[in-house]
Amino acid sequence: MLYNGVGKTMKTKEIPIEYIKIQDNIKGIRAINEEAVGRYMEKYESGTSKPILVKEINRQEYILIDGKHRLEAKKRLKNRKIDCELTDLEDKELYAKAVECNVEHGVRLSENEEIEVLKNLITEGRTQEKMAEIFHISQGAISQRIKKNERLRLLLSNKINIPTVNEILEGKTHQETANNYNISRSRITQIWGNFINEISSDFNAGTPKEEIIKNQSKNGINLTEEKINELVKEDYNKIILGDCLKEIPKLKDNSIDCVIIDPPYGIDYQSNYKKEKHEKVDGDSSKAFNLLDKSLNEVKPKLKKDSHIYIFTSWKVYEKVKPIIEKYFTVKNCLIWNKTNWSMGDLKGNYAEKYEMIIFAIQGNRKLLGEKRPVNVLDCSHTDNLKHPTQKPIELIKVFIENSTRESEVILDFFAGSGSTLLASKELKRKWIGIESEKEYFEVCNKELINLEEAKEETKDSQKELEIKNE
Ligand SMILES: C[S@@+](CC[C@H](N)C(=O)[O-])C[C@H]1O[C@@H](n2cnc3c(N)ncnc32)[C@H](O)[C@@H]1O
Repeated sequence: MLYNGVGKTMKTKEIPIEYIKIQDNIKGIRAINEEAVGRYMEKYESGTSKPILVKEINRQEYILIDGKHRLEAKKRLKNRKIDCELTDLEDKELYAKAVECNVEHGVRLSENEEIEVLKNLITEGRTQEKMAEIFHISQGAISQRIKKNERLRLLLSNKINIPTVNEILEGKTHQETANNYNISRSRITQIWGNFINEISSDFNAGTPKEEIIKNQSKNGINLTEEKINELVKEDYNKIILGDCLKEIPKLKDNSIDCVIIDPPYGIDYQSNYKKEKHEKVDGDSSKAFNLLDKSLNEVKPKLKKDSHIYIFTSWKVYEKVKPIIEKYFTVKNCLIWNKTNWSMGDLKGNYAEKYEMIIFAIQGNRKLLGEKRPVNVLDCSHTDNLKHPTQKPIELIKVFIENSTRESEVILDFFAGSGSTLLASKELKRKWIGIESEKEYFEVCNKELINLEEAKEETKDSQKELEIKNE
């Protein structure tokens, strides 16, 4: 027989009660309620109750999705069989369906029960839009409930979303996973990036692979040793949220070809010219010299024997910054970035600031690349600082990268800001690592990198489509 259920055509049939299993993860929100069982017993006796909803595993095994009380009533009536609707929903949809059925039956959840259900739905990777559909309430109401509960907020912001990570580990593209889970592709890229970061930092901290696999399997993630090897190769292309003094020591020794940094200036930087002032740059005080000193000390062993270092600075602090750099490296030059569109500053009292300085230093004996000898004045227009108060132009940084490194070599920026160095490195197919201590800028960085990643994924998707068409 065909039965028209909620928006779907479903088969119904009589199934022996002993074939129906109550699975732990979708066993329903509540324990058995005696009153409800009694009501259903009466209904069955008068022959009026609706079929229960099950999913067929095989001819002698079915999973119960909805109808725990009806099934219990039948058992108590000592009936052997029960009318069932068979759903063809995929396994990953079953829990959400079970919740929706409860909502449709008018089950009122306590606050704790509701939190538990929302927790499970978030863990399954449901969007707030989908959760609103399941609960038959507005998206705003769902978002309010999540905001109210710290555990849910944390869970939602937990960037490692188990089912999507598992799909990508199984070989699905970001786009396919985004479609399957009804999540935006940028969110998937973000989840994946965070997963890689977690695995890589465990690995770099010396955690044995078997332990990483064990820990991840507790989260429900199916990793293998081969996969870790593959992922750790991706170890480089990552941005770390944290203090560089704590994060640099975790990097591999002797692994970086070039450092490009724009440290906090050591002057009280805040543009007076802009109408909307940015926050002061973190660490922007005399502490900045101490930070530069300590960070260069930490990074020295991480640099390859022959490597290059570029450090943005200003004439106002040059005489303090140069001796710090000379404690660790050989200063070779002071490059001038000539801003082809100069900034205004104090209109009458002083000359307008039209240049910035970049100290170029080396460790060992690394040569500059390129056919022509580069000059130490570089013309480049400045950015509008929309993403960071001291945002540097990607085009300028690309010049340093091309002069100092080849494809696949490793660039480090441990004062990443909005990620200009990382974006330039990525565009030029270098490996890159960024460290940024401010969450706000870390997120700007991630967003910019995701935009680039999406462009890359789009190319991958269209190549895959083309291959399928050509098959
Ligand atoms: C001058 S800005 C870099 C701007 C960057 N060049 C850009 O184009 O966006 C310096 C950055 O270093 C970050 N920072 C300050 N102290 C830090 C620390 N101890 N570890 C990591 N980042 C830090 C600041 O939050 C700031 O974003």
